[in-house]
Amino acid sequence: MKKTLEEIKSSSLSAIEKAADLGALEALRVAYLGKKGSLTSVLKQMGSLSAEERPIIGQLANQVRAAIEEAIAAKTAELSEKLLEQKLKNEKLDVTIPGKPIKIGRRHPMSVILDEVVDIFTGMGFSVAEGPEVELSEYNFTKLNHSADHPAREWQDTFYFTEDSSVLLRTQTSPVQIHVMEIQKPPIRVISPGRVYRKDEVDATHSPMFHQVEGLVVDKGITMGDLKGTLNTLVKRLYGPEARTRFRPHHFPFTEPSCEVDVQCFECRGAGCRVCKGEGWIEILGAGMVHPKVLEGCGIDTSVYSGFAFGVGLERLTMRRFNISDMRLLFENDMRFLSQF
Ligand code: PHE
Repeated sequence: MKKTLEEIKSSSLSAIEKAADLGALEALRVAYLGKKGSLTSVLKQMGSLSAEERPIIGQLANQVRAAIEEAIAAKTAELSEKLLEQKLKNEKLDVTIPGKPIKIGRRHPMSVILDEVVDIFTGMGFSVAEGPEVELSEYNFTKLNHSADHPAREWQDTFYFTEDSSVLLRTQTSPVQIHVMEIQKPPIRVISPGRVYRKDEVDATHSPMFHQVEGLVVDKGITMGDLKGTLNTLVKRLYGPEARTRFRPHHFPFTEPSCEVDVQCFECRGAGCRVCKGEGWIEILGAGMVHPKVLEGCGIDTSVYSGFAFGVGLERLTMRRFNISDMRLLFENDMRFLSQF
């Protein structure tokens, strides 16, 4: 039995030393020390030994077991380290390889212009107000002095949510005028940028969703002169001191008198060309003195206060500034286009 133990010891130690990986090592552990392992089966025969032999063999068996366990532990450590080394080698990071370039976005041309517009107006003492895009007809039309049968209310032009035409996607930012006047007392100086919606087919100059910046000033003694001065300041700050404006009489239900404002075409300086479609001028906004009915509807005393309002198309401002000929380019989000600004 002693001989068997010694054989087990030497064969196991050399097999452990040669084990190629952790799996093989575990198989060896089972083969020697497992329930059916060779050392275990020797121990099971201990009962047949004499009383003098038993402690000697027992001690030897324990030494063999300890030697095997120690060898397995040592080999496990050695193999684990090798494994780790291999892994680190395989996963080595070469910090000198150039990284993948990250595409950094930039501001959309409309955001550039909007930021400038907000800057220009806050510089003149305006604050920025926001209003809902889902609006009541009451605010989009009625309180803005549109008659019950005004053509702008028609279903062909407006996105309605309800059969009774009471809830809609706002067709203009002008309802924000009402929201502001209902909660704020004069003096009022606000602009309100935002999305508006109309049932227009998409083409080079139309989109069912576009942006306006509304402006409203209500104070004592406000005149058309203030309106002209303010809008001329906007145009000159946006397009340079050379920029020329033209105020044309127009009609809006909620302003009286009303006007439309054109900027002179930069391409032909008013002579007429492809860019301005032969007009020499390009329309950018509607404006006027706030209609007394609108002011009174919001509880503002028209014997004390007057005001002006305007609504400017942000797409138009942007297209003029960067000479963009097709509005669709502003919405397609093509990086080849957007990265030019
Ligand atoms: N809301 C008008 C439009 O969409 C523009 C406008 C605003 C006109 C304010 C006068 C005053 O055409």
